[in-house]
Amino acid sequence: MIVDMEPDERDDIMEFLERYKLKFNGDFTKVVNAGKKLRYANQEPRSRPQPFFVSSKSSNYWNPKVQEDIWIKGEVGRYRIRGYGASKPVPHLNDIAFARDVSTVAPNPDELTDINLKTTVGGRFGAKPLGLSMPVMIAPMSFGALSRKVKIALARASRLSGISENTGEGGMLDEQRAEADQLIFQCLSGRLGWNVKDMQRADAIEIYISQGAKPGLGGQLMAKKVTPELAAIRGIPVGIDLRSPSRHPDVLGADDLVIKLQEFREATFHKVPIGIKMGAGRVNDDIKIAYKDGFDFVELDGLQGSTGAASTEVLENVGIPTLSAVQEAVDGLHEIDAGDDMDLVMMGGIKDGVDVVKMLALGADCTSVGTAAIIAGGCIACMQCHVGTCPVGIATQDPVHEARYDLDRQAMNIHRYLESLRWQIAAITRALGYDDVHRVNRGDLVALTPEAADITGLPYAPEHKETRRPLTGLELLDRKAG
Ligand SMILES: Cc1cc2nc3c(=O)[nH]c(=O)nc-3n(C[C@H](O)[C@H](O)[C@H](O)COP(=O)(O)O)c2cc1C
Repeated sequence: MIVDMEPDERDDIMEFLERYKLKFNGDFTKVVNAGKKLRYANQEPRSRPQPFFVSSKSSNYWNPKVQEDIWIKGEVGRYRIRGYGASKPVPHLNDIAFARDVSTVAPNPDELTDINLKTTVGGRFGAKPLGLSMPVMIAPMSFGALSRKVKIALARASRLSGISENTGEGGMLDEQRAEADQLIFQCLSGRLGWNVKDMQRADAIEIYISQGAKPGLGGQLMAKKVTPELAAIRGIPVGIDLRSPSRHPDVLGADDLVIKLQEFREATFHKVPIGIKMGAGRVNDDIKIAYKDGFDFVELDGLQGSTGAASTEVLENVGIPTLSAVQEAVDGLHEIDAGDDMDLVMMGGIKDGVDVVKMLALGADCTSVGTAAIIAGGCIACMQCHVGTCPVGIATQDPVHEARYDLDRQAMNIHRYLESLRWQIAAITRALGYDDVHRVNRGDLVALTPEAADITGLPYAPEHKETRRPLTGLELLDRKAG
């Protein structure tokens, strides 16, 4: 609304203009807020209520899963727990590809005999290294998180495929020891089931600092799974929610770690390799400590690595992706001119032989599979491993649930899955032009996304996306038909 201007208002403005020597000869118009009268002529009618996730289809922000999470937290008043690893998309091995088109090489029945896949782990200081038939291990998974039958099935499959099994937290089972040819015995901060007798019948020892799913935290086993048998082997009371400490009580830093390492060497008469398991956090520093402290091998687990139980917030948000982890590890060792005598075993989201070869090309010496092995052995990925009532008898200690697990059948399924890795690793190695998988290198890789190129320093070559995608069924048939 335009109104008249008071004379002293006009004088004030003129005085201001003169002060700054601004010439002005015109007239002023005063516009004031119209107050109550400033209204749109037509008011918007009250709209039909629509939930956010219906009306904003393109946005996944407040999706039903997020809402459910908030409701449940509203009921229980604490963070939530689940199994498996991070589910959010982060740059991973799918974001890199082989520089050569490996799909065009014709199948060769002699692949498995012609290509060297043999891998040794842990020979740095003269202990007897693990001798693996290919660069793959079974990842440490505890008896407790997994049922006895599953631990035996994994041990058997590892023997049939000539690779190693790992006790994980919570002690060594006699049947597991009998089934596995090569067994790594893991020492966690809670020292549950840890003893010299089992150390001396292990083929390697590994000290757990943390894992990719929950860097900085120890094991977590909910009360339902702490049965009398499990409590006895772990040396704890029955039916409590068990949380292992976040660190070893006697390891406050790198110096104590050396002492612990020497203790392990003495207890095992310097005969077996001693390794360290680390979740990927400050890898660049941690890998240097592991090297200087004198470990024979490192098992390094990225953000995507799974667990039997952890808080969802930690699972999704703590740690760095497996791809960043391997790169930081390789760079860190390079920075201190470390030789290649400390073996680097990478894990966290490795699902097939393609991933294994990519990992080796990035600089790992070996890989390890957890989730993939249990999926091969019947896991349905419901992510409820912590609850204790696993419908397929895998993540349970309840005899009724465990009875559903067909040990003999699933051990063979895991073994066949491992053999599928062997074929893929051999075929890709040959397609890349080598007769030894340990000759693959960074020159064999390109990055498909700017993020992956940034993380790894590989050349960014998005044009490989099309040629490196898996063939569809029809394309495969076409190709067969010539
Ligand atoms: C059921 C389950 C139990 C696990 N228990 C342990 C354990 O006792 N000690 C350990 O170092 N890591 C443990 N992990 C983590 C694995 O060793 C490994 O770091 C991770 O699963 C590797 O990633 P991947 O599952 O994608 O292969 C466990 C993982 C799962 C799925």
